Amino acid sequence: MENRFERNFIIDNNEAVLNIENAAIFLGISTATVRNWVKSGYLQTIREDAKYLFHRKEVENIKSRIKNGDIEKLNKRANKSKTNKTFIPEEYIQDGVSFNELNSIVNFIKINSVSLLPALLLIALNLLKKEKILLKADIQDIIQKKDLFFTNKEIEGEIKPWILEIESEKIKEEFSFLLDCDIPQQRDVLGFLYQSILHEGEKSQSGSYYTPSNIVNEIIVNYVKKDSKVFDPCCGTGQFLLAFSDVIENPLNIYGIDFDKIAVRIARLNILIKFKNKNFIPNIICKNTLLEVGNYDLFSLKDKSIKDFDIIATNPPWGVHFSGGDLEKLNKFYPEIKSLESFSYFLKKSIDLLSEDGIISFILPESILSVKTHKDIREIILNNSQIIKIVYLNRVFKNVFTPVIRLDIKKCKGIKGSIQICKGDKNYFVKQKRWLNNQDFIFDIHADGVDAKIINKIYQTNHTTLKNRADWALGIVTGDNKKFIIEEAREGFEPIYKGKDVEKFVLNKPMNYIKFLPEKFQQVAPWQVPIF
Ligand SMILES: C[S@@+](CC[C@H](N)C(=O)[O-])C[C@H]1O[C@@H](n2cnc3c(N)ncnc32)[C@H](O)[C@@H]1O
Repeated sequence: MENRFERNFIIDNNEAVLNIENAAIFLGISTATVRNWVKSGYLQTIREDAKYLFHRKEVENIKSRIKNGDIEKLNKRANKSKTNKTFIPEEYIQDGVSFNELNSIVNFIKINSVSLLPALLLIALNLLKKEKILLKADIQDIIQKKDLFFTNKEIEGEIKPWILEIESEKIKEEFSFLLDCDIPQQRDVLGFLYQSILHEGEKSQSGSYYTPSNIVNEIIVNYVKKDSKVFDPCCGTGQFLLAFSDVIENPLNIYGIDFDKIAVRIARLNILIKFKNKNFIPNIICKNTLLEVGNYDLFSLKDKSIKDFDIIATNPPWGVHFSGGDLEKLNKFYPEIKSLESFSYFLKKSIDLLSEDGIISFILPESILSVKTHKDIREIILNNSQIIKIVYLNRVFKNVFTPVIRLDIKKCKGIKGSIQICKGDKNYFVKQKRWLNNQDFIFDIHADGVDAKIINKIYQTNHTTLKNRADWALGIVTGDNKKFIIEEAREGFEPIYKGKDVEKFVLNKPMNYIKFLPEKFQQVAPWQVPIF
C-alpha cells in the first residue's frame, strides 16, 4: 500500500503534495473520512483554497501520531471545541463575488499577526471613513490616540473607548492597509471578519455560527412590518438586526442581546451606521439571555414593555455545554426543559417574551423534529403555538454537518390548524393535531396527508407491531468499505446488508460479505446477545 502511495505524489514548491485519494490510501481510511478530518481540523490542507491537497509531511505526521497513540479516536467524532483553526464562513457573504477581497483582508490580518480588537477597530474606522461619519484618520492618529472627528455623536461614543482600550504598541504603521483598503459592500463586513478570525474552538463552544443572509432575508420578507417590535435573543454581530432594519423605520423597535462582548460592540456599531442620520442609543446589550435577562417577570432593559415582541427571530446556539453552576440555574429557571439543550432554552425563553399572536422564526438542527430527547420542547411548542411553517434547509453552515430546518411558530392557545412543510420543490400541509397524538410528539414532516391516512388505516385493522419482538441497533460504519467488504462468500466472512439492499417492503439478497472485526471499524453498534 505504501509503495502505491510512493508513486503518487506531486511536487509543489519543492514539497511533496498528495491528493485526497492518495492521502486516504496512505492513512488506510476512506476519502469521506479524510474530508471529515479536514473539516474537523485534524488534517490541514496545503492552503485554505486548495481543497483536499495535503503536504506529504502533514499526512506522514498524522500517521505517526496515530501509531504512537498521540491521537486517540481520530476516527470518531472530532472534538471541535479544542481546535485553534480558523475558517472563512463563505456562506455569510451575500454575493460570493466579494470573497477574494475579503479573503485578502483576512490573510493580511493572519500574516501580520494583527490582534483581534485592533484589526476590527481599523476596519471599523475604515468603514466609518467611507460612510463619511469619520472625517479623517491615518494610522499615526490611531497609534498616538489623537482626537478624531465624527459626524455622529453616538458612534463617537462607541469608538472612543475602543481606541483607548487598545495598547498603542498593538497597532503598527504597516497595519495602515486595514484602515485604507477597499471594503466590499456587504451587510455585516465586521461580523464576517470577526467570524473569520475567531478560532473554531471558540465558535463551537458558544454555538457562534452566524446565519447566511439569504436565509435571514426570507424570514424578514415573510413576517416583518415597518412598525414591528423585533428581537434577536442571541444576536451575534447583528445579521438579523440589520435585516430587520431594512424594513423597520424606528431603530428603537429593534432589540438584541448577546453575551459576546465583541459581537455586541459590532452589532451596536452596525445599527448605528445603518441609521446614521438618527440620534438614538441602540437597544442592543451584552447579557446572558438565559440567565441574566429576567426570570421572565424580571426582564428589563431600559424599556419596561420589552416583553411583548411581535417577532423573535434568530439562529440560537445548539448543543452548548453548560458549566455546573449554570446548569443549576437553568434547571431552576426552566424546569420543563429536561434535555439541557441550549436551543430549547432559547425557544422557551422566546415564547415567554412574545406577544400573543407574535411570531418566532428559528434556525434549528433537524434533530429537534424527531430525536426523543427533544420531546420536552416539542410538547411546549405544540401546546403554546400554531406551527406556521417548517422549511427543510439541509446543510447551510460550512463546518457544521447537521441538516438544518427553519421553524416558524405563532404564539396562541386553542385549536390548531395546518402546518406548511417546504422540502425542496415539495410543498404540502399537515395537521398539527396529528403531531399532538404522535409518540414523543414527533414532528413527522416527511409524512404528508396521504402517508398519514395510510398509516392510520393500517393501525385501524388487526396488526402486529415490532414492540417487544425485535432488537435493533445502528449498523456498521467501516470507515473504508473497499478494505473490509468483499462481494463473494469466503471462509470467515458473513453476509451483510448494505443500505441499498433494503428496499420499500423488500429485503434483497445480501450481495456483500464482511469479516466482523469491530475494533477495526469506525463505528459499530454495541455487541449484545439478543434476549427473546
Ligand atoms: C449561532 S450564533 C447566531 C448569531 C446571530 N443571531 C445570527 O444568526 O447570525 C449564536 C449566538 O448566541 C450567542 N449566545 C450563546 N449563548 C448565549 C446566551 N446564553 N446569552 C446570550 N447570547 C448567547 C453566541 O455568542 C452567538 O453569538
